Amino acid sequence: MQILRRIDEPRALARTCKSRGERVALVPTMGYLHEGHLSLVRIARQHADRVVVSLFVNPTQFGPGEDLDRYPRDFERDRALCEEAGVDALFVPEAADMYPQGFSTSVDVHGTLTKGLCGASRPGHFAGVATVVAKLFNLCEPDVAVFGQKDAQQAAVIRRFTEDLNLAVEIVVAPIVREADGLAMSSRNVYLTQDERAQAIVLKKSLGAAVALFDRGERNTAAIINEAEDIVASAPLARISYVEIVDARTLAPVDVIERPALLALAVYFGKTRLIDNTLLPPTGVL
Ligand code: PAF
Repeated sequence: MQILRRIDEPRALARTCKSRGERVALVPTMGYLHEGHLSLVRIARQHADRVVVSLFVNPTQFGPGEDLDRYPRDFERDRALCEEAGVDALFVPEAADMYPQGFSTSVDVHGTLTKGLCGASRPGHFAGVATVVAKLFNLCEPDVAVFGQKDAQQAAVIRRFTEDLNLAVEIVVAPIVREADGLAMSSRNVYLTQDERAQAIVLKKSLGAAVALFDRGERNTAAIINEAEDIVASAPLARISYVEIVDARTLAPVDVIERPALLALAVYFGKTRLIDNTLLPPTGVL
């Protein structure tokens, strides 16, 4: 596996691969890899001959007071996991190369896609994500890029700017990977204390109860949200940031589910903010 640190290296690699007729996939990550990331790598492999994983804790998507400084990092472990997973190249750029002095540009997706859900409580977050992903697309020139459904709003934003900016990258969204007890895998799960970790299963439970209600014919979103919120609130350490149901395509809030919808939630346990979601009906990915 190649380790690429200079920002001109992944493009050169992609061009060499493509000159041999190979398809290149990119899996963008912020490192501290878990089984969820490795599932993205496996799916990337199904779509391409070569898989590049980028590993960059992107400072511009963290707001003031968020966890940029304490975001978990373990390069050697990430390198070993990628090697084992058969990744062809690991791209590990420096922040100073990604954002040199004078950097003044941002990719900002407007409207309902970024207004609600995490966009409401994390101003600037999706502009940070879109900007770095657009840069990674330019630097790595992938044919296809794979993102996780856990970050459903992020996936929708990335699909939007990729189409709006006519970028020739196919976006693949991969299903959420969960721990045995249902907690969605996330690098941030390591922040949880033992008690918080035990109580965090209410997230998946609340989504399950919401799906059950939907399956019994409930279409009123207030009723479904109430049910989900009650279950989350049964965990004394949980503090709800939001529980919302939005249109799966536009991410605009809906009162009555008549088209595919997304139930998304964000919940704090202590300082740790966890997100999770399900589609209603609960089939496929965004
Ligand atoms: O999902 C993530 O880990 C990040 O938001 C991404 C897509 C790698 C951009 O920094």
